[in-house]
Amino acid sequence: MRLEIPRETERIGAVQIYGLQKVYELDSGPDHEAIFHREDSVIQRISYESLFQVEKEMAIVVPVKDERLKLIEGVLCGIPNQCTTIVVSNSERSPIDRFQIEQEAIRNFAKFTGQKILLVHQKDPLLGKAFAESGYEELIDDQGLIRNGKAEGMILGTLLAKAIGKKFVGFVDSDNYFPGAVNEYVKEYAAGFNMCGETNTFVRISWQSKPKVQDSSLYFAKWGRSTVQTNRVLNRLISMYSGFETEIIKTGNAGEHALSLDLAMDIDYAAGYAVETYHFVNILERFGGLIPEQQKEPGRNAVKICQIQSRNPHLHEVKGDEHVDDMISASWRAIYHSDITPQSLKEALRAEMEERGYLIDGEIPQVKRYPALNKINFQKFSELVEEILQNTDENLFQGFSDTLPISIAR
Ligand code: GDD
Repeated sequence: MRLEIPRETERIGAVQIYGLQKVYELDSGPDHEAIFHREDSVIQRISYESLFQVEKEMAIVVPVKDERLKLIEGVLCGIPNQCTTIVVSNSERSPIDRFQIEQEAIRNFAKFTGQKILLVHQKDPLLGKAFAESGYEELIDDQGLIRNGKAEGMILGTLLAKAIGKKFVGFVDSDNYFPGAVNEYVKEYAAGFNMCGETNTFVRISWQSKPKVQDSSLYFAKWGRSTVQTNRVLNRLISMYSGFETEIIKTGNAGEHALSLDLAMDIDYAAGYAVETYHFVNILERFGGLIPEQQKEPGRNAVKICQIQSRNPHLHEVKGDEHVDDMISASWRAIYHSDITPQSLKEALRAEMEERGYLIDGEIPQVKRYPALNKINFQKFSELVEEILQNTDENLFQGFSDTLPISIAR
């Protein structure tokens, strides 16, 4: 892969947000044949081998909720074999057991490809128990099960990635129509870690285009409707601290993103669709030095947020205007309720939310938040998870040996 080094950087405390990096070449050859390589170039070349090394240490979490099997299979097909895939399904169990159908399809897929796949159901009572017994009750509802939601599935996926000893965790939605795009995202995650370092790094993808049919022809929109709104407000927040207007943030609610696991364990999460926006907010809260009482020491390294512009068009299931409004509202609520948001920005947000009809009884509801995963008794959690996986019907979990590629928890 060949991509440009970031041209701009915004620094807030220990947080470095890099400007959007453009990909020039998806494939730029192996180490032993460094095709067109110049040390002084502003374009960095990352060989197959370097990408491979990172991918081997990366888990890709695929959240699923009642998606079409053809789409899920296409997504799995785009994930490089050297990664470990963790499918976190919250699909319905009755009247039709969609999870059972997913199990069959994914089991077959794993047999054909040898891809290492861990498939779990978000509502598995034993997984709920594992969280509760390891001291992370916040994720559990009153029936002892993990709560619904994509963010909640992501939290589960992140801890499973840590439990199987990965260094990086990346996320890819399961409703993507283009396996080639999925493959590109994973390569870009690997390229981001290669360029920015293996610790305290966050890689976020901005799609170059999102195709739509308009007046009977294809139109390649540059920005999603919720992304524009989230970016605008996050950039304003940053400008208010730096004193300079900025457009640095292009990935305010990027569903496609990857983190080094140390960072993933060290940040708070917001529920539902606020999750990606709150990543920015919480990283600034913790490492930006803006609220001294909440300031965390990120170790010797700064927290780096790297934004990469992908080349494949992003085509996913379209879920309607109401869904877009829900995402904007959730993102803005996460910003509104942060202690780092200045009063004048809160007032401007309130006015816009009122105009858009996002207030409930005149109030801006809080977004549910989850504390950093570091609070969990991780030793206990991994023992419980290993026990669950060893007792699956298929009894296939053996630390993902090469001959046993799939593990399905119940
Ligand atoms: N495990 C799990 N649990 N997965 C879920 C759940 C759940 O409760 N709810 C949704 N998912 C899965 C979906 O099956 C899909 O693969 C993925 O999460 C994204 O959910 P969508 O509802 O399809 O979101 P979207 O495609 O409209 O929005 C995406 O892009 C936004 C940025 O434009 C998401 O990635 C958003 O998080 C992102 O902000």
